[in-house]
Order: sequence, then C-alpha cells, then structure tokens
Amino acid sequence: MTSTRETAFTVNGRAVRLDLDPRESLLDVLRERLALTGTKKGCDHGQCGACTVHLDGRRIVSCLTPAVQVDGRRVTTIEGVAEPGGDLHPLQRAFVDHDALQCGYCTPGQVMSGLGCIAEGHAGDDDEIREYMSGNLCRCGAYPGIVAAVRQAATGERDG
Ligand code: FES
Ligand code: FES
Repeated sequence: MTSTRETAFTVNGRAVRLDLDPRESLLDVLRERLALTGTKKGCDHGQCGACTVHLDGRRIVSCLTPAVQVDGRRVTTIEGVAEPGGDLHPLQRAFVDHDALQCGYCTPGQVMSGLGCIAEGHAGDDDEIREYMSGNLCRCGAYPGIVAAVRQAATGERDG
C-alpha cells in the first residue's frame, strides 16, 4: 500500500489541497481529479508536448511531473490563459487568425508552449520559434500556422 501525501498548490489562481499518491502525475491530477481536461494526454512519456502547462511561469510537461512535486507552487493550465473577461488571449486569437489547428488535440499544449517560447525571448524569428517549439508535435501538420501565430503574438502584428 502506498501512503498519500497532502499537497497544496494553486491552479489558475485557485487554491487546491489534495491527498495524492506520489505516483500520480500532475497531468492525471489535473484531468481526473480537478476536471481540467483542456490539458491533453498524448504520449504520456514526455515526447509530444500535448500536456504542457506552466509551473511558476515556466513550461513543463505535466505527464512527467509527479503531482506531489508542485506542493506550494503555482500551476497554470490552458483554462487559465484567457483574459479575465473571457476574451481570448492574444496568442489564442492568433491561433484562430492563422488556422493553426485542425483536430485541435495538440493545441492547448501548443498555446502553453508558445506562451513560454515568447516569455523566454525565443520567438525572434521563424527558425527560432520552430526550434523552441520543437517539443510540441502536431499530427495534423499545422506547423506553418502555429509558427505564424507565435510570431504574431510575439510581435503584436497581424499579417494582411
Ligand atoms: Fe506529456 Fe506527451 S502527454 S509529453
Ligand atoms: Fe491535430 Fe495538432 S491540430 S494534432
């Protein structure tokens, strides 16, 4: 029998306190205990980026993060990205502008990673965006739109 560990953290500004099995991933806790299903499970092995969230403002893959490790820390998921009034964040708007999705399964992770890419100062040009977004796979091949969306959000300029 595995003993649980009390873990307290915030998710999108909301305080959460849970008794967690140390083997539970942050991804599973978000989806299955907190009903935050915007964060997607692709590979569950740290290879696709679909589960990307922010931990204390830095992007991480939540499938490889034991949930007990976020004790005392700040988690942001795709549900916490929109503006307070409910309007889309400029990067979400840019994804719409550039048709940067098809099935949409990878999109929450792409947005969270794109926000990180911009915040880290790695959205200087398309090559740099491609390099620093390379951990986020898209089976639909929406990469040109994704790069254009990150570029638009980084520069604040719309094409056309
Ligand atoms: Fe986490 Fe693929 S589900 S990297
Ligand atoms: Fe389908 Fe990226 S939009 S996997």
